[in-house]
Amino acid sequence: MASYTPKNILITGAAGFIASHVANRLIRNHPDYKIVILDKLDYCSNLKNLLPSRSSPNFKFVKGDIGSADLVNYLLIAESIDTIMHFAAQTHVDNSFGNSFEFTKNNIYGTHVLLEACKVTGQIKRFIHVSTDEVYGETDEDAVVGNHEASQLLPTNPYSATKAGAEMLVMAYGRSYGLPVITTRGNNVYGPNQFPEKLIPKFILLAMAGKPLPIHGDGSNVRSYLYCEDVAEAFEVILHKGEVGHVYNIGTKKERRVIDVAKDVCKLFSLDPETVIKFVENRPFNDQRYFLDDQKLTNLGWSERTTWEEGLKKTMDWYTSNPDWWGDVSGALLPHPRMLMMPGIERQFEGYEDGNAAASQAKSNSTQTQMVVPVKGNPSTPKSPLKFLIYGRTGWIGGLLKTICEKQGTLNLADVCREHGLLMMNFATGCIFEYDAAHPEGSGIGFKEEDKPNFTGSFYSKTKAMVNSIFIFSCLYMYIYLTF
Ligand SMILES: NC(=O)c1ccc[n+]([C@@H]2O[C@H](COP(=O)([O-])OP(=O)(O)OC[C@H]3O[C@@H](n4cnc5c(N)ncnc54)[C@H](O)[C@@H]3O)[C@@H](O)[C@H]2O)c1
Repeated sequence: MASYTPKNILITGAAGFIASHVANRLIRNHPDYKIVILDKLDYCSNLKNLLPSRSSPNFKFVKGDIGSADLVNYLLIAESIDTIMHFAAQTHVDNSFGNSFEFTKNNIYGTHVLLEACKVTGQIKRFIHVSTDEVYGETDEDAVVGNHEASQLLPTNPYSATKAGAEMLVMAYGRSYGLPVITTRGNNVYGPNQFPEKLIPKFILLAMAGKPLPIHGDGSNVRSYLYCEDVAEAFEVILHKGEVGHVYNIGTKKERRVIDVAKDVCKLFSLDPETVIKFVENRPFNDQRYFLDDQKLTNLGWSERTTWEEGLKKTMDWYTSNPDWWGDVSGALLPHPRMLMMPGIERQFEGYEDGNAAASQAKSNSTQTQMVVPVKGNPSTPKSPLKFLIYGRTGWIGGLLKTICEKQGTLNLADVCREHGLLMMNFATGCIFEYDAAHPEGSGIGFKEEDKPNFTGSFYSKTKAMVNSIFIFSCLYMYIYLTF
């Protein structure tokens, strides 16, 4: 079996759960690989998940959206990426019953942008697409053989439908353009770094707070759980030994009912399950079981190492030692998640010692840690958790928006340059001036650079004059007036 050796890997979604373990593992085990992480820092992410890798010279973090074609193309070329491990996605089934458009946007469109960038740049030697067991739909309760990689895809909820849709695009780019793709479909994963909207960390945090553990429906649904380090190892194996064009299930034969997971958590916290477990309204649709045949991956040499008891204990120890890892996640701990814990709500790192450290590292030590993270405003700007970038804020609607958002602080491109100490060059126009008493026609007296625009006879001249005024108020600037 030929082994593949990557050089420069782009990992998407690695400020999230699984990919943070994969990234940290690859950086630890392969100091010769460059790892570039692209993550938009959605509500479920945490830069702290990448702490073990921060000081490594082969690590770089870029905050950004996989849906931005410009950014993705730039990264592939600038970082000479030869391998992509694509984890970024909206992942919470519960949320997909609400705003499912976000799932289509991030999971299908986002994947499409990545694939197109691979096609355009033509330098990718491996595209590892991370999918899920849920694309197979539910397994019959009495089935003794698990879904194998050629089984039909029959997703039952919007999340799994978008994951299946993304897979179709991946497959098509493999066939149409010869993109060297590999797809994985994994069982549920648990362990440190997981956002507490998911079952196991949610139960642990609720048990820590002495609150009831809510179970959707009657708790008879069966799930298969793999410990995160075992899954990270599976990705390491697939990266090096996986065959192009193939799909690999990452599974376990060990299954347990949701009610039994709750009971095991109660046991660890010495709680009485009879009083602590509460049954709540079920999801609109709740698959009974996902059972995978994992023979193909086992044939590559991977096997599950961590027992359920060991993994659950390690997970509990981690959450109890890091109770504030996620800040206030009360919305995620409700039986059904609230708006604030949903896609598109960016995580705020303001209060995090760690987030600030990352920002200052970016400024002071960029060659060593290569962190590219949002830089906080300058000391004179009032501290505010949100800032809005409004294009055209001097216009009518933009102006109204500006007033509404004033308390939060608004940004235009010139403000961004000021915040980052960048010189901004404006290619302005002489069409903002007209002859007047001080500059009569034929007098030879021209307008100077510092003169105020006096011609607003066209929308063009008017808006160009507005740009000048933004510059004067906002940033370090340089004008070049062109006389046409
Ligand atoms: N967690 C599981 O049990 C499980 C099981 C099987 C498969 N998977 C798959 O594994 C992958 C990772 O799952 P997870 O549980 O670690 O997810 P997660 O929700 O913990 O993390 C997802 C990460 O992706 C980022 N992200 C989302 N949309 C993005 C975008 N448009 N651009 C850039 N970044 C974006 C988020 O900020 C977040 O950091 C997903 O593709 C998921 O479908 C997960």
